[in-house]
Amino acid sequence: MLSKKMEEALNKQVNAELFSSYLYLAMAADFEAKNLPGIAHWLALQAKEENGHAMKFYGYIADRRGRVTLAAIAAPPAEWATPLAAFEAVLAHEQKVTGLINGLVELAAKEKDNATGVMLQWFVTEQVEEEKSADYIVAQLRMIGESAHGLIMLDRALAQRS
Ligand code: FEO
Repeated sequence: MLSKKMEEALNKQVNAELFSSYLYLAMAADFEAKNLPGIAHWLALQAKEENGHAMKFYGYIADRRGRVTLAAIAAPPAEWATPLAAFEAVLAHEQKVTGLINGLVELAAKEKDNATGVMLQWFVTEQVEEEKSADYIVAQLRMIGESAHGLIMLDRALAQRS
């Protein structure tokens, strides 16, 4: 059985992952509208991945005979000034999520909940990847600067994500 504290914290993380999904889907919609379909595709896939993260927590809570409770998902912004502004927001958001995962790891240790601690290790590793890919795209966009040609090339590259 999960402790009440742990159950509550894991449910909060379900919400945080669903918000991540919503945020990236909002970005995808923005760049779809701005004729950058490759960036939109990358972000839509990221949104799907975040939904998968939420479902991992959902499944784990259920496996431990806890109760999943779904809270309202906050509305994300609708528009970002530039692709760089959006990806800087992605990176900052992922850094925040890393902090949330670390908080859960600390709580699991405090609650002596080894099973949750082990489950969370997947997310600890995943966050390294999440930050790395966002950081890479931010760096590319900074190199591109004002170059339309560079942006078109990056858009084509990001369209290849599967
Ligand atoms: Fe679910 Fe992007 O971390």
